[in-house]
Amino acid sequence: MQKIVLLNPKGGSGKTTIAINLVSYFAVCGLKPTLMDLDAQGSSTRWLNKRAKGQAVIHGIAAYERNSRVTRSFATRLPLDTERLIVDTPAALEGQLLPDITRNATAVLVPVLPSDIDIHAAAKCISDLLLIAKIRREEQRIAVIANRVKKNTLVYKALMKFLETLNIPVVATLRDSQNYIRAAETGLGLFEMKPNQVREDMEQWLPLIGWLAQRRPLHIAPGTPAITSASTAAASPTVSPVVSQAANSALTTAAAGVNPVITSPVVTSAVVVTPVATAEAAPAASETDPAAPPPLG
Ligand SMILES: Nc1ncnc2c1ncn2[C@@H]1O[C@H](COP(=O)(O)OP(=O)(O)O)[C@@H](O)[C@H]1O
Ligand SMILES: [Mg+2]
Repeated sequence: MQKIVLLNPKGGSGKTTIAINLVSYFAVCGLKPTLMDLDAQGSSTRWLNKRAKGQAVIHGIAAYERNSRVTRSFATRLPLDTERLIVDTPAALEGQLLPDITRNATAVLVPVLPSDIDIHAAAKCISDLLLIAKIRREEQRIAVIANRVKKNTLVYKALMKFLETLNIPVVATLRDSQNYIRAAETGLGLFEMKPNQVREDMEQWLPLIGWLAQRRPLHIAPGTPAITSASTAAASPTVSPVVSQAANSALTTAAAGVNPVITSPVVTSAVVVTPVATAEAAPAASETDPAAPPPLG
């Protein structure tokens, strides 16, 4: 499984926009995605609720809906067959939550807008990821997405210059496009819209999709909570030595520049939105997967 976290405590940088388009891409690829919404504003959950029957299935977890009867670990438990977990996070996220939210993440994507205020906020966010969440640069798990870019502007040049100094890869540069607004309104993702309408935007996603496909998926025992506090977290997860077959196929699709709407097997059942998974829905790993390592701690 790959856990991909969208993170930047600055509101409006594009976390939700990128989360919903990425999750819809994985859905049309048939990669069993789950979208976890940690933002009490519930924007990505609202988008999910707009999806029509017959569209590629995305499992939703509105993890901000804290149910007093269940612990946070239960509230964030994943369907056992999840292959891609996309976590959409709120603005003004407290630094102390960073280690929990990014634990086991194969990728932490930081969208940044080209503006002076956003550049400063991104610098702080990345420094917190390095110092508080203790993600090491050489792990290559953090990447930046330059969002709402108007090329040939001074502020865009300033953004790119700043990003160069960070030594963190810029894995996509997305233009300002009405297609993202349309996607948000209609419960679709770019990769589900008419190709001739979104071709230019889709092409800008290919470097990101290729980069993600090269991330090593982590083996996380089925039933493990997606967000774990330090006290309940398992010891460092085993890192798979090979890129998974699913990741390879996504890379092939990306490298070929092919619209997965056309090439992937389309999943046709209805959208499933479950605010919280229950204990019954998420039995302990050892009960369900004999190959899974025993739970630690
Ligand atoms: N590349 C883009 N082009 C046009 N509009 C965008 C783009 N990225 C984000 N937006 C718009 O900007 C607003 C804020 O984006 P959002 O994804 O909600 O940010 P966040 O989740 O970080 O607060 C939304 O109205 C969204 O539709
Ligand atoms: Mg948001």
